Amino acid sequence: MSSVCFGVDVAMLRAVLGEAAPLFAIEHLESCDSTNTLLLERAARGATAGLTLLADSQTAGRGRRGRSWLSAPECSLTFSVLWRFTHRSSLVGLSLAVGLAVAQALEDLGFEGVGLKWPNDVWLFGRKLGGVLIELMFGQDGFQAVIGIGLNLRMHPEWQDSIGQAFTALEVAAVPPPREILLGTILRCLARTLAVFERDGFAALSADWNRRNALHGLPVRVCSESGEHRGFCGSALQDGSLELLSNCGARLQISGGDLSLCLEMPL
Ligand code: BTN
Repeated sequence: MSSVCFGVDVAMLRAVLGEAAPLFAIEHLESCDSTNTLLLERAARGATAGLTLLADSQTAGRGRRGRSWLSAPECSLTFSVLWRFTHRSSLVGLSLAVGLAVAQALEDLGFEGVGLKWPNDVWLFGRKLGGVLIELMFGQDGFQAVIGIGLNLRMHPEWQDSIGQAFTALEVAAVPPPREILLGTILRCLARTLAVFERDGFAALSADWNRRNALHGLPVRVCSESGEHRGFCGSALQDGSLELLSNCGARLQISGGDLSLCLEMPL
């Protein structure tokens, strides 16, 4: 971890990171448009793997599928990590692996009720707690991924009207830990999970992911480029796609899109 790290307790962060500390160079920003956007620019200018941008606030935070991502100082943990993969790595299932690492970190910190919603939402007691936005850059000797993670720590009064879905924050379960502990634990879990992912692919993580599948067996709707599909949520398969089951026994494999719970669904 570099010493260029203002405004966070470096000693605490280093202690939490433990053996993973040399893998990360963490920079803390009071504000930026989006840590993903900034890290993509830094990566294009040759930033090295492990660079992590942590921002107190983002003026143009981005979510998946072109949506915006709301955050506020004290209410959010928002950061992006640059990671390098070799040509041999298959990136299928990467976003699920990252969500899993975040869930494991929260569990290591003692949080109960943590779940995952395919492909990469982190849930707490049935509501969205955070999300992952991964953006890829392809180069001559491999791929780089900008891995952006946003978590709600506390509820912000203005979010209720602006976010179009049920969401929650860590404070609903317990007092959120200091961000050095939260960030350090997530990065430590991320390093461990990405090492398994690079070596053996998502197949080696799928059982751990499926144990936390918050919507398993529930009626869902998937909106993807190929249209809308309805069915009962099955498991994440070894390649990271999701199995959808209809009540006549048909199985559909979904590899991209948005999943939502669909309680009124006539199948
Ligand atoms: C989603 O659920 O749609 C993904 C949300 C990802 C938000 C994080 S916050 C840090 C990073 N910077 C961004 O602009 N987006 C990601």
